[in-house]
Amino acid sequence: MSATALITGITGQDGSYLAEFLLARGYTVHGLKRRSSSFNTDRVDRIDVHPRDPDARLFLHYGDLTDTGSLVRLLRRTEPDEVYNLAAQSHVRVSFDTPGHTAEVTGLGAQRLLEAVRVAGVSSRIYQASSSEMFGAAPPPQHEGTPFHPRSPYGCAKVFAYWTAVNYREAWDMYVSNGILFNHESPRRGENFVTRKITRAVARIEAGIQDELFLGNLDAVRDWGYAPEYVAAMWLTLQPERPDDYVVATGEAHTVREFVAAAFDHVGLDWQRYVRVDPRYYRPAEVDVLIGDAGKARRQLGWQPKTLFTDLVRIMVDADRQLLDDERCGRLVRIDR
Ligand code: NAP
Ligand code: GDD
Repeated sequence: MSATALITGITGQDGSYLAEFLLARGYTVHGLKRRSSSFNTDRVDRIDVHPRDPDARLFLHYGDLTDTGSLVRLLRRTEPDEVYNLAAQSHVRVSFDTPGHTAEVTGLGAQRLLEAVRVAGVSSRIYQASSSEMFGAAPPPQHEGTPFHPRSPYGCAKVFAYWTAVNYREAWDMYVSNGILFNHESPRRGENFVTRKITRAVARIEAGIQDELFLGNLDAVRDWGYAPEYVAAMWLTLQPERPDDYVVATGEAHTVREFVAAAFDHVGLDWQRYVRVDPRYYRPAEVDVLIGDAGKARRQLGWQPKTLFTDLVRIMVDADRQLLDDERCGRLVRIDR
């Protein structure tokens, strides 16, 4: 019997990589997708074998983290061995504009899912996608014992979800683990997160179809890793006999300015000719420095990052150049080929 996993947020960056990772390990994968007015399954369409296909092991189901009934029904129907809660309103700047919605989905959504697992009576191991954004203003390097000081509605919602996960573990003896992941990027990163915004702009400026890039705070420091390696850490988090919480990070830190310079440099352009600062992209409260200490994950899970800053920038810029080339030639577009 192959193992079964349920992924919420399967249509996002991490969900799509995690689905591929689990399918490659023989899992049957069920994914929760929400209804949207335009197609939102681009990232998983490449692996979405039609459910009528006898070999199909990936199944998408409509549902929503704001709808408890849909969660309970799906859990009863699929009886997953592992549940990965990746769904969230995940954009920090947007969370200042939609704090209520962010709390509903990113915070309470996690609680609804945990309660749904309990009520459905399935014995799943549960992964909660916690975030380095919970550390906020706490000085680096941040690790599992660093006190949280969130600086955004998103960070606050993630802290609620984190402690709720811990509480379900302690109160109901459920297998619930938090992965506290630092920023991780890829060619599938949403276009309005800073790394992808930069690499997409670099490709367009090189091609002559964009002449400026407007950004906010260039001084913020982030610990950027490569998303496909981070979904492996998610799976590893659910394999030990006992549940626990783990920081996942590279330990290497760079400013947004350094990311910009490296991305333009990769195509032989001088970033200072194209980049402008627009205060509209500043945040009401900023997280200045995130640098993770992933020593516990290395020692206990055997997880280590392989792709570091310079390679990450190169991978993302080259993928956006290729994507643009494909679009302009009318070739079948795959967001990371
Ligand atoms: P993402 O690309 O923004 O994906 C978020 C996913 O959540 C999408 O599939 C989205 O659906 C879904 N979603 C949003 N609202 C929902 C709702 N009400 N019900 C059901 N699904 C909903 O995020 P990501 O980068 O893959 O991150 C995955 C998780 O890890 C998130 O919880 C994020 O907060 C957390 N995290 C990310 C990072 C990072 O650096 N990437 C670091 C730490 C933690 P649509 O596709 O329809 O929008
Ligand atoms: N998005 C964006 N757009 N950010 C900008 C811009 C811009 O034009 N200019 C500067 N920045 C700065 C932000 O102020 C922030 O300090 C940094 O770039 C990174 O911003 P994002 O890429 O939006 O990521 P984030 O760090 O706020 O949040 C991401 O990482 C968290 C983990 O630490 C998201 O993926 C969260 O969901 C995740 O939890």
